[in-house]
Amino acid sequence: MEKKGKEKRSLPLRHGVEGLSPYLADKPDERELRARLCFNENLHGPSPGAVKAIVQAALNVHFYPDPGGWELREALQKKHGIPAEQIILGNGADGLITLISSTFLNPGDEVLFCEPTFPIYRSSTLISMGVAKGIPLDERYRFDLENLRKAITSKTRLIYLCNPNNPTGTVLPPDEIEGFLKDLPEGILVVLDEAYVDFMDAEKIPPTLTWIEEGYPVISLRTFSKAYGLAGMRVGYAFSSKEVIDFLYRVREPFVVSSLAIKAAVGALEDVQHYRRVVNSIRKERDGLQKALGKRGLTVIPSQANFLFLDFQKDAETLCRRLAEYGILIRCSRSWGMPTWARVTVGTPQANKTFLRALDAVLGDRTR
Ligand SMILES: Cc1ncc(COP(=O)(O)O)c(C=O)c1O
Repeated sequence: MEKKGKEKRSLPLRHGVEGLSPYLADKPDERELRARLCFNENLHGPSPGAVKAIVQAALNVHFYPDPGGWELREALQKKHGIPAEQIILGNGADGLITLISSTFLNPGDEVLFCEPTFPIYRSSTLISMGVAKGIPLDERYRFDLENLRKAITSKTRLIYLCNPNNPTGTVLPPDEIEGFLKDLPEGILVVLDEAYVDFMDAEKIPPTLTWIEEGYPVISLRTFSKAYGLAGMRVGYAFSSKEVIDFLYRVREPFVVSSLAIKAAVGALEDVQHYRRVVNSIRKERDGLQKALGKRGLTVIPSQANFLFLDFQKDAETLCRRLAEYGILIRCSRSWGMPTWARVTVGTPQANKTFLRALDAVLGDRTR
């Protein structure tokens, strides 16, 4: 029988999509915002050189971007000492995670990671009709390599290691990661998400490039959203063996990174002074903020990233709502199954002071 326009029709839908939730798709809070500390952004802002590059590039937006993004890949080759052929650019590290799922997963393939962690590993797996297996972090809130190893089956295809982990800020010692790689069965790719690597102590940074050169099946994810302050531009990159990168380029949309994003990232890489000043400030502020929170009796996990994960020992959602009344946004951890915990971005010295003042007011207010 013929259906009329207003009658409910069933939609074609990929398996797994129904169970997903949109990512923080609520309308932004219209109240006066004093410090947005909920997205791990860089409150120092981008390099003036990057902004100038964006403005100049705006005159040419009637042209498509270079699909290869060669200017940026060659700048990254200079920074890391990796051949440009082993680097792929993406629409943020987010876009690269989706791309990795689309390239390497078949329906029913298993993907391992620990939780709580960056939620896109799970959602991108489900969208690709893979099976997401989240294993608890260890007792030190780190990725549990031993239990990850035990969870490997003949169907395992991808293993994510988030290092530093979002939201805990914890890292794994490089020798433990290397031991894990050595033990890995054939046919598995390890995705080492290093979005926050710039904020780590130098001696804790894994020799990812060396591992790739030695033939371990590893892909490293990086982003310009954090240390380089370009979250709004949406540009990230990954490096791996030439073979892995070649497969990814077969699947990636051709013009996925805009010409403005490419120019901005090149401009940001050139301004080494700005990068160093910002990273040093955030690292110093992170230590100060951690001590300040500890003095208030809160449990804070030592972090190697640009955020801190803390336990309020009471309902964090209520506290986050109260902080929002002071114009301070932090990330409540209820969706990670840790309802007394929250994650706070380390901001500028001024933003951090504003946060602490509001926190004191909220924690001291016994009238509510
Ligand atoms: C661990 C981790 N990986 C990847 C990303 C995505 O970064 P991008 O802004 O480049 O998409 C984030 C963003 O917060 C993150 O925390």
